[in-house]
Amino acid sequence: MKRFIIVGAGQAGLQVAESLRRGGFDGEVLLVGEEASLPYQRPPLSKKYLLGEVEAPRLLFRPADHYAKLGIACHLGVPVAKLDKENRIVYLADGAELCYDRLALTTGARVRELTVPGAGDPRVCYLRGLNDAENLRVRLSQARRVAIIGGGFIGLEVAAIARGLGCEVAVLETQSRVLQRVVAPVVSDFFARIHRERGVNIQLAQQVSAIDATPDALTIITADGSSVVADLIVAGIGVLPNIELARASGLLCDGGIVVDEFARTSDPSIVSAGDCTMHRNLLYPRPHRIESVQNAVDQAKVAAGTLLDHPVAYAQVPWFWSDQYDFKLQMTGISTGYDELVLRGEPEKGAFSVFYYADERLIAADSINRPAEHMVSRKLIATPGGCYPKAQLADTAIDLKTIF
Ligand code: NAI
Repeated sequence: MKRFIIVGAGQAGLQVAESLRRGGFDGEVLLVGEEASLPYQRPPLSKKYLLGEVEAPRLLFRPADHYAKLGIACHLGVPVAKLDKENRIVYLADGAELCYDRLALTTGARVRELTVPGAGDPRVCYLRGLNDAENLRVRLSQARRVAIIGGGFIGLEVAAIARGLGCEVAVLETQSRVLQRVVAPVVSDFFARIHRERGVNIQLAQQVSAIDATPDALTIITADGSSVVADLIVAGIGVLPNIELARASGLLCDGGIVVDEFARTSDPSIVSAGDCTMHRNLLYPRPHRIESVQNAVDQAKVAAGTLLDHPVAYAQVPWFWSDQYDFKLQMTGISTGYDELVLRGEPEKGAFSVFYYADERLIAADSINRPAEHMVSRKLIATPGGCYPKAQLADTAIDLKTIF
C-alpha cells in the first residue's frame, strides 16, 4: 500500500490530507506535526481567543474522530529531525523512522524574534501558535501597560484587543507608517488614526535598541533615547519560513521552499504548500511567498492534485483580512509595484476601498468595512485584462457589481 506523509499539521497540511482522500487516494495518509494539538485555526488567536470569547477546543478544524473516519493517522507533538529524500525516510525527533512514497512539506512559518539586549525576558511575548496565545492571554489579563513592537497585523490586532481589555497601549514601529508591508499610505493612515483615537500611543520610525528588565517593569529604550515603560511586551515583527528541514535535505530553497505552479519541489516525490513556499502562481510573473489562509488552502489543493497525478496549475488571486476594533480590512491581489491608486468612499466615514493599478491594470484592492466591494474586487482582479474605468470604481453612486 502506498504511503503519503505530510509534514506540518497546520491549515495547509490538513487540507492536503483531506484533498488526498477527496481525490480518491486509498493508501496510507500520515499527518506529522510538531505541535501537540490537532490542526486548529490561527486567525482567532489574535482576536477572539485573546478576549476569552472562544476556547481552544472550538478552534480545532475537525474533531479527533474525523481523522479516524477519514483514515488520516496523526503523529503530533514530535518534530521531524531529518528528511532523507534519497531513501524516502522521515526521521522524527523521538527516533521513529517513517518511510514514504510521496511527501508534502507544509511546515509554515515561525515568528522572527527580537535580538536586542533584554529581549529574552519572559514578559516579552510573541503570537503565532496556540501555546503563545495561551501565554499571552494570561499575561494580558494581568497587565496594565502593554508595549507592542511592530505595527503589522499582529501588533495592531493585539493593540486593539489590549485596549478593549482596558490596558494602556503603545505601538513602536520601525517604518514611517503602520502596515507598510501590505497597504497604501491612505490605509496605513486610517489605521494609525483609529488606534490613536482609541488611545493607543502609536510611535512611528522608532528603533528599539534595548529592553531594561526589572522585577517591576520593562523599559524599552529606543535609538532616539526615548523610553516606553510596560508590564508586558508583545513583539510582532514578522515571520520566517520554516525551510531548514527542506534545505538540509538538499531541496532547493530561496526565501522559501521553491515550488512550481504544481507545488512541486526540486524532488519529484515531494510537494510543498503554504507559508513556507516560494511559489509560482500563474497570475503573477515572478515567484513569491505569502502568508495567508487562502494560499494555505488553495495551494494545498494543488499539492494534493500533484500527489495524485492530477496536476492542476495554481492560479488564484490571493486575499487576506484583519479585524481591529469594529473595522474589517479585507485585501485582495498583490499591490507591489502599483503606480496609481483609486479611492472609493471616504476614510473619515470609516468605510472605503482603495484600488491599486499598475500599467492601467487593476492588481489589488483593500476594503475597509466594505465586504461586498471586497468580493467584487476579487472577481475584477481575477478577470484577464483587468482594465476597469477608474472613474466608475471611484464613484460610490455606481454599484460595483454592475461593472463586472
Ligand atoms: P507583519 O510583517 O505584518 O508586520 C511586522 C511589522 O513589524 C512591520 O510593520 C515591520 O515594519 C515591523 N518591524 C519589524 N522589525 C521591527 C522592529 N525591530 N521594531 C519595530 N517594528 C518592527 O508581521 P506580523 O504582524 O508579525 O504578523 C506575522 C504574520 O502573522 C502575518 O504575516 C500573517 O501571516 C499572520 N497574521 C495574519 C493576520 C491576518 O491576516 N489578519 C493577523 C495576524 C497575523
